[in-house]
Amino acid sequence: EETGKSGYDHYMLKEINEQPRALRQCLRARVDELGSSVDIDTVGDLSPSGLQFVACGTSYHAALYGARLFEQAGIPARAYLASEYATSPPPIGDDLVVGITQSGETADTLSALREAKRRGAETLAVTNTVGSTATRECDHALYIRSGPEIGVAATKTFAGQLAALNLFALATAEDSQTRRSVIPALRDLPGDIQSVLDNSTAAEIAEQYADAESFFFIGRRYQYPVALEGALKLKEISYEHAEGFAAGELKHGPLALVTDQTPVFALVVGDGEIARKTVGNIKEVEARDAPVVAVTDGQSDAELYADHVLEIPETHPRAAALLTNVQLQLVAYHVANNLGRPIDKPRNLAKSVTVE
Ligand code: G6P
Repeated sequence: EETGKSGYDHYMLKEINEQPRALRQCLRARVDELGSSVDIDTVGDLSPSGLQFVACGTSYHAALYGARLFEQAGIPARAYLASEYATSPPPIGDDLVVGITQSGETADTLSALREAKRRGAETLAVTNTVGSTATRECDHALYIRSGPEIGVAATKTFAGQLAALNLFALATAEDSQTRRSVIPALRDLPGDIQSVLDNSTAAEIAEQYADAESFFFIGRRYQYPVALEGALKLKEISYEHAEGFAAGELKHGPLALVTDQTPVFALVVGDGEIARKTVGNIKEVEARDAPVVAVTDGQSDAELYADHVLEIPETHPRAAALLTNVQLQLVAYHVANNLGRPIDKPRNLAKSVTVE
């Protein structure tokens, strides 16, 4: 087992570090050098007029991100928790139903896909696992090509899901101008992630706050699913209390929980309106004495109001989600490591949950 970890203390850390390679595999022969075309075989021929994403856990966060991509392209899209979808299915109409599942075996997701199929929907599986039940039962499959993931907490497969969803949106819903701005950013991702891995100060921040009462994560648009994922990762492997919020929602309740014992990780990308509003939310928590960690590309003035900064390279906001996420994966890993948790096999959790 030790050799399988290639010198890393845990599979999770190995898999976090494998993300540049996993993304190269995901993109290989699918995007061209000029950034003008995307080739994802017959999946690229789909032209959905609406989409319903179904997924669980980390894959649900990828679903939220995927729905945002299509919505921004003007196509109605929504993400559903598979367990809810299976028992309370929405009207499907002509929507394409997309199951996102790393394993392709999650019972709740299979059940939601079966319910969609039963009601006549066309279905697509976005998965890491060739030959899995999801690929056999769905009409189409899009592979994320992340390679095997052993750690129970999903890391590189989440990155693969976000990248594959970008390819899917670019191929089926977006114009050449968008392709030319997004594809180069996707192609830069392996290098950009490597630079985050090489320069991250997440370990020091994790050490300082490992004993905090609660951890909060806030973000908007593409950074909102990352905020949820950052909190889930931390909960799963450190057993510490953590919550992710849409940054604008903080003042509608969660702000009551904020004290000097609750570090807030704020995800701030670019210098536009979204960043400006999130910086406003940073000021709200700073005024309540919360330690603030800005995870940012440095384009806004977020750093002025933060106690710590986790830097990411500047890139397209869609690609930036994968970079802020790497910083949060490292925070979760190092908090859990400081607390001596069994990182690869957290209590009560399974890699693939085959019961509903
Ligand atoms: C389990 C795992 C999670 C994972 C979820 C969905 O709960 O512990 O890490 O996100 O299943 O898995 P899937 O294989 O469907 O992506």
